Amino acid sequence: MELPELKIANLVAKVPIIQGGMAIRISTGALAGAVAATGAIGVIGASGMTFDELAAEIRLAREKAKGGIIGINIMFAAREFWGIVNTAIQEKIDLIFTGAGFSRDIFKVGLENNTPIVPIVSSARLAKTSERCGASAIVVEGKEAGGHLGTDRSIKEILPEILKVVKLPVIAAGGITTGQEIAQMLKVGAAGVQIATRFVLSKECNAAAAYKQCYQRAQKDDVVVISSPVGLPGRAIKTAFVEKILKKEAPSPVGCDFCLKNCSLEYCIIQALLNSLNGDVENGVVFSGENVWKIKNRNIRPAAEIIDELVAEARSVSSTTS
Ligand SMILES: Cc1cc2nc3c(=O)[nH]c(=O)nc-3n(C[C@H](O)[C@H](O)[C@H](O)COP(=O)(O)O)c2cc1C
Repeated sequence: MELPELKIANLVAKVPIIQGGMAIRISTGALAGAVAATGAIGVIGASGMTFDELAAEIRLAREKAKGGIIGINIMFAAREFWGIVNTAIQEKIDLIFTGAGFSRDIFKVGLENNTPIVPIVSSARLAKTSERCGASAIVVEGKEAGGHLGTDRSIKEILPEILKVVKLPVIAAGGITTGQEIAQMLKVGAAGVQIATRFVLSKECNAAAAYKQCYQRAQKDDVVVISSPVGLPGRAIKTAFVEKILKKEAPSPVGCDFCLKNCSLEYCIIQALLNSLNGDVENGVVFSGENVWKIKNRNIRPAAEIIDELVAEARSVSSTTS
């Protein structure tokens, strides 16, 4: 099937793929810029960044994007939520994705600054609330997604329910690893897809080699759901630290800087994510989508090559058969 353009407010992406934002510093300006340059939408995972760092990453992404669309993703659960939002708006970000919690006030700020707001939701109730509050589109995320999860239901179940109750562009996310799956989501009625796990195996992804190797080696049983101090479940690849979390034996935080509005203090999720980002995966959490093991080509390739492959696979699907 021919892929439609993805329209969000006054933005038009030629390729209806959004590279999902990935904290902490997994999707930075290099990846977002490379994705945006292909005509898809690149997203910087802004949670955990300082304001100056975020501004620098947005500028870097712009340099690489060749006029393409750049967004940021910020967790509502982050204490610095508003500082990050304001920094992104000052840097003239094209759009803002928000997940891990829900803010009604963000829509007002988006409207005042002409910045489209795209919440990430997992239920028809929040999808309708988002539309009423002024969202420009919504990302619907199923339990197959990586990172923090808002549901235990599959995207295949939730998507049709949400399409029935909102008129906004609906973007499907969670577990998509092939162009054929993109085509399926579009046929059901999604305006586009959000994909994250697939892009960790890109040259431009900021994670250490050891992190990417976890993705390259992962088998089906290696992907598990853990509890996160944020107060949500999270999907990750088994490491020694993840085994400790599963056994409720993870060490308590040391030197907490209160980065979350509410934290269970079960362990420090930020330190665990930073450890793995920097290559110490055994002492860290490696977030990943459920279907990482299904990715056929797990070589590290330029993001543009990954997008070309996804688009070619989607195009190979007939637009009439299901
Ligand atoms: C390593 C990693 C980090 C993530 N970090 C965030 C994040 O900071 N904020 C967010 O809203 N979603 C986050 N996600 C979710 C993705 O943006 C995306 O919606 C989801 O993973 C899509 O499913 P997929 O990974 O199977 O393609 C993360 C996912 C991964 C794999």
